[in-house]
Amino acid sequence: MLRFFPEKKKYLEEEKLHEFHPELPVPEHIAIIMDGNGRWAQNRRLPRVAGHKEGMETVKKITKHASKLGVKVLTLYAFSTENWKRPTEEVDFLMQLPVDFFDKFVPELIKENVKVHVMGYKEHLPAHTQKAVERAMEQTKMNTGMILNFALNYGSRAEIVTAVQEIANEVKSNQLPVETIDEEVLANHLMTGFLPPQLRDPALVIRTSGEERISNFLLWQIAYAEFFFTRAFWPDFDEKLLEESIATYQQRDRRFGSVKEEGEK
Ligand code: FPP
Repeated sequence: MLRFFPEKKKYLEEEKLHEFHPELPVPEHIAIIMDGNGRWAQNRRLPRVAGHKEGMETVKKITKHASKLGVKVLTLYAFSTENWKRPTEEVDFLMQLPVDFFDKFVPELIKENVKVHVMGYKEHLPAHTQKAVERAMEQTKMNTGMILNFALNYGSRAEIVTAVQEIANEVKSNQLPVETIDEEVLANHLMTGFLPPQLRDPALVIRTSGEERISNFLLWQIAYAEFFFTRAFWPDFDEKLLEESIATYQQRDRRFGSVKEEGEK
């Protein structure tokens, strides 16, 4: 059932709605739900993990291109707190991927001035995965360009619960008066709190594979994000589709709850 191939050209044409203008603002923070690796593989009669391996190649391609376009933060949803429910062989493979990825790709990331960050419940990752991510963060910590932020063993509801627990503890130990708790205090305790405040919230969220849901990803941070959904499976996502998603963003009218002034374009 190789249904995907004949359709690919068609949906790319259908989805190509806007032209990318490099001179217009590019979203400073883009977050991506990289979905469809399994279906990409199944359509080729390959094991699901072959899709994840190919997906890793897409991560390299998109990282380089996003950095080139001037994106400041690229957050990639690589493994959710719910993904442990997958078959053991698949989980093991997904836990090995960051090891292989950083092993081979860190020199290039250094060359591209990209800084790696990993957010999520890292303490529950296998030791070899933890070691690989800590090492990549250490090796790229002096880089000043784009931040490549992997969400690994990440879940947004859990993240909010952890933040609330931390805040409650600060109140309990008289470090924080209850009436000073505001949006900024909560945002500081979220896993995106390591970023400068103006970069914490993604301006654009992309999800591949035709699914149109958020799956427990950055629930607080996406309050005003624009969304771009494409039918392309993650291994088929490429530089051109990234530019098209940005082009769609560029023609959207972001009002943040306000209204336009009369005569304003
Ligand atoms: C969702 O597709 C994808 C994942 C759960 C894993 C994403 C991981 C990668 C793209 C590689 C990450 C690379 C690094 C360096 C960490 P799916 O398996 O749910 O696809 P399906 O919906 O078609 O089954």
